[in-house]
Amino acid sequence: MHPNAFDFRERPFLVIWETTHACDLACVHCRASADPNPAPDELNHEEARELIQGVKDMGTPILVFSGGGPLKRPDLDDLVRYAKTLKLRTGVIPAVTPALTPERIQALKDCGLDQIAFSLDAARPEEHDAFRRVGGVFDRTMESIRIANECGLAVQINSLINVHNQENLDELIELIAGFNIVFWEVFFLVPVGRCWGGHRPSQLTGPLSFRRYLANRLKPAMPSMPFMVLRFII
Ligand SMILES: C[S@@+](CC[C@H](N)C(=O)[O-])C[C@H]1O[C@@H](n2cnc3c(N)ncnc32)[C@H](O)[C@@H]1O
Ligand code: SF4
Repeated sequence: MHPNAFDFRERPFLVIWETTHACDLACVHCRASADPNPAPDELNHEEARELIQGVKDMGTPILVFSGGGPLKRPDLDDLVRYAKTLKLRTGVIPAVTPALTPERIQALKDCGLDQIAFSLDAARPEEHDAFRRVGGVFDRTMESIRIANECGLAVQINSLINVHNQENLDELIELIAGFNIVFWEVFFLVPVGRCWGGHRPSQLTGPLSFRRYLANRLKPAMPSMPFMVLRFII
């Protein structure tokens, strides 16, 4: 093995920390069944710093602040700054709510944030907003991508591919192919949390359909995409 190569057998390459259960969106599929309130046993600020130090001590180079809606944590900026003092590469996956203003994105960049990820599940505003169950999320996501690009943050897009967007998947691929992003992460539905109560399992896309999507729809589009496409499997 090359002396600088990362040995995945020794430690995780990446830690994604779900910083809070609180979120102001109400997505149909939410695996966390998130609602606007934090869970009673969430890590306080000191505990959060210990967690970040633990990531550093483990030798893991990347820490992603996820949720829920990580902007619901009042100490998010301090935690990103702290992670940067430890020379961790940092990412944030904010829920796209009115709290995600241009100033908020710039503030995260000023804390040293390296990468930001936005969820985008449909190319049509009405479809995305219906899925996230709050009006205006699609437009705000487009604007947030533009602002993050302007700030010089690396941008990632996360998309859930499932029954709700299978008909218009080509439109989503075309839209995403035009973005200035570092990668597109494709998720497939994990039947837990809110989607378990909202849909019967038979209505969910199963593993064979995932492969069919990849083979028939995603793979041919990939050479035209000037960024990496990742498939996230839980
Ligand atoms: C956990 S969220 C973190 C950030 C933020 N809450 C959001 O949704 O953008 C990361 C990704 O997981 C996806 N996700 C949520 N519930 C899921 C589920 N049941 N199955 C698969 N992906 C899911 C979201 O759509 C999002 O793109
Ligand atoms: S934005 Fe994320 S955490 Fe919030 S409700 Fe949607 S899937 Fe759940």
